Amino acid sequence: MSDALNYLVAVRGDALGHYFKFLKDTGKHLDPKTRDLISVITKVHSQTESGFKQYLMRALRDGCTPMEIIDALLMAFPALGLAKIVWATEILLEMDMPEFKPELINSLPQWRDVMAVADIADGEVKRVDCGARTVFVYREGDRYKVYDSHCPHQVTNIPHLALEGKTLTCPKHHWKFDIATGACIAVGKHPLKSFETKVEAGRLLALW
Ligand code: FES
Repeated sequence: MSDALNYLVAVRGDALGHYFKFLKDTGKHLDPKTRDLISVITKVHSQTESGFKQYLMRALRDGCTPMEIIDALLMAFPALGLAKIVWATEILLEMDMPEFKPELINSLPQWRDVMAVADIADGEVKRVDCGARTVFVYREGDRYKVYDSHCPHQVTNIPHLALEGKTLTCPKHHWKFDIATGACIAVGKHPLKSFETKVEAGRLLALW
């Protein structure tokens, strides 16, 4: 929620409460993904960038695929018009999310080569460029964790410099993550996006 809405809730929560109850009730017969997609469209219609990013992230967390989001924008063409669809697409491109890249958007999840296990020591963290996606890799004995380098808040691409010990801090709004589990441990509430892993012939593979 924006600072302005937080302020209005703090000083006139009695009035604003009706508005939020209204919003909640209006979607109660819709499944979460449909609600999310409608919310995304409303933010594109009002051209509210932070709201668009917020609802976009929620839609992805709730299981909407990038293609479903693009379809929703295109289906709303009669209301949005091309200019607003292009406005939203430009923001999507700036966000540089791997899932929306042409080489990933239509591909089914598959095992992808990340690195040689010999190149990462026990307890070490590495940031690895895997083409369309950059990941953080953490090794604990024979256990490997692989996370997308993008912050789950507003997809800032977190640099390696953001790592201190086992804590990764996003430079944008300072959400903190435990690199051993991916959990968000301060400020925010959503974990790093993690991928299933396996080791084959000395290579670490991850599924995306
Ligand atoms: S983008 Fe906001 S904390 Fe990372």
